[in-house]
Amino acid sequence: MHLDNPDGVSIVIFGASGDLTQRKLIPALYNLYRKNRLPEQFNIVGASRTVYNHDDFRALMRKGTQEFSAASFNDAQWAVFAEHIWYVPGDASNRDDLARIGAFLHDREHQHTDRLYYLSVAPALYEPIIENLNGLGMTAEDGAWRRMIIEKPFGIDLTSAQALNQRVHRHFNEDQIYRIDHYLGKETAQNILFLRFANTIFEPVWNRNYVDNVQITVAESVDVGHRAAYYDQAGVVRDMFQNHILQLLALVTMEPPASFNATALRNEKVKVLSAVRTIPLSDTVRAQYEGYRQTEGVATDSQTPTYAAFKLLIDNWRWQGVPFFLRSGKALASKTSQIRVRFRRPPQMMFGLPKNADGAFAPNTLTIQIQPDEGIHLTFEAKLPDSSHETHSVQMDFSYSQTFGEGEIPEAYERLLLDALHGDPSLFTRSDEIEVLWGIVDPIIHGWEQTGQPPVATYPRESWGPTEAEALLARDNHYWRLWSKANGG
Ligand code: BG6
Repeated sequence: MHLDNPDGVSIVIFGASGDLTQRKLIPALYNLYRKNRLPEQFNIVGASRTVYNHDDFRALMRKGTQEFSAASFNDAQWAVFAEHIWYVPGDASNRDDLARIGAFLHDREHQHTDRLYYLSVAPALYEPIIENLNGLGMTAEDGAWRRMIIEKPFGIDLTSAQALNQRVHRHFNEDQIYRIDHYLGKETAQNILFLRFANTIFEPVWNRNYVDNVQITVAESVDVGHRAAYYDQAGVVRDMFQNHILQLLALVTMEPPASFNATALRNEKVKVLSAVRTIPLSDTVRAQYEGYRQTEGVATDSQTPTYAAFKLLIDNWRWQGVPFFLRSGKALASKTSQIRVRFRRPPQMMFGLPKNADGAFAPNTLTIQIQPDEGIHLTFEAKLPDSSHETHSVQMDFSYSQTFGEGEIPEAYERLLLDALHGDPSLFTRSDEIEVLWGIVDPIIHGWEQTGQPPVATYPRESWGPTEAEALLARDNHYWRLWSKANGG
């Protein structure tokens, strides 16, 4: 795969002094370079208010890449790659500064060099930067494309997201806009559609007739760290549910698209997300980890949840009546993202009870382990050897590292940057999709604010969340289950 414009491409990162550039973007671009996936001619131009010269910036990027892409780092390769990196100090929301950045690009580029802008700045700056880009003629596509990747959060609710879409569409067509959700770039998230639609055996049972319930857990062990100022405004629903978790849900529940292209894929996602029933507040749990309010930058009476759990239903033929339990939080016992599909029990049981902890007959479970220990695990029943009719739960496992080798899973940003360069928006969120996503979480966020219900629970750090989240499932005779490498089930 190679980009064929002989005039090459400029990748312009606004907000380049931020963490994301050093931790994710430059390491991803470096890996693309290493794999010979960037065009012959390319410029990476960082811009932000902090003053660096080109060499300072390159040194910083080198440090980041060495740290975050350690396995693939190579001094000689880096030296050549770094010659393509530049830095221009300036605030792109200021017209004069942006004009200087534009002039710098102009000097480095050929007549038809394509441009990918990356907005990695505070959301308040999206609009002024877009206005300035347009005002300075930097959005015009005459013989070369202009695309823009926009980081999350895209709006803070449905109304603001709609307004932002309108502003963006004044100067960019939808096919120039790439709203990023890095979960969609994760190899294991992409594989969900392959699991479902490149095989025959899963799809026939992937519906209300065979699926009992689905659990999606995105747990983090880190707390809010130095991001408290952002996080206390956002909270876990805006930070994790509106985007990452609902995207996973869409991949698990969507109908098969007629073809593997961006329009067909995104149409199906929008269709299923539009069928999500409004979630009543009584089916939600919100909580903070102990000590959250003492964090610097967090209001002492903050109501911002660092953990949430929902029960969600989808009103369509495939999923009618199947509960989807979603949860995510910070400062939890460990980092794991997984999707567990639990199937119904056999209609009639002629064997004895298995030796399970809960003593009940274990239904089949398919776990899609998004991260870490990426893999897929199917739990099923086998006859316990040397017994007459007892069963025992066993597993069939697929592990990425065992099958494809350690270190073979690329970073999400690698895939996403490459797709944006190739003009493939399949793994990016379309304007109508982002609005449907906000439409799902808005009633919860606003409902919590307006009614104060349910109260904000607390949970100990390094736990699996508040007891209220256990109770949410217990009401339906379910409980949260986790696959782990250690327990295998
Ligand atoms: C980001 C959130 O989008 O995703 C962070 O803003 C969160 O709060 C991160 O930590 C989690 O991403 P990952 O890839 O580490 O699961």
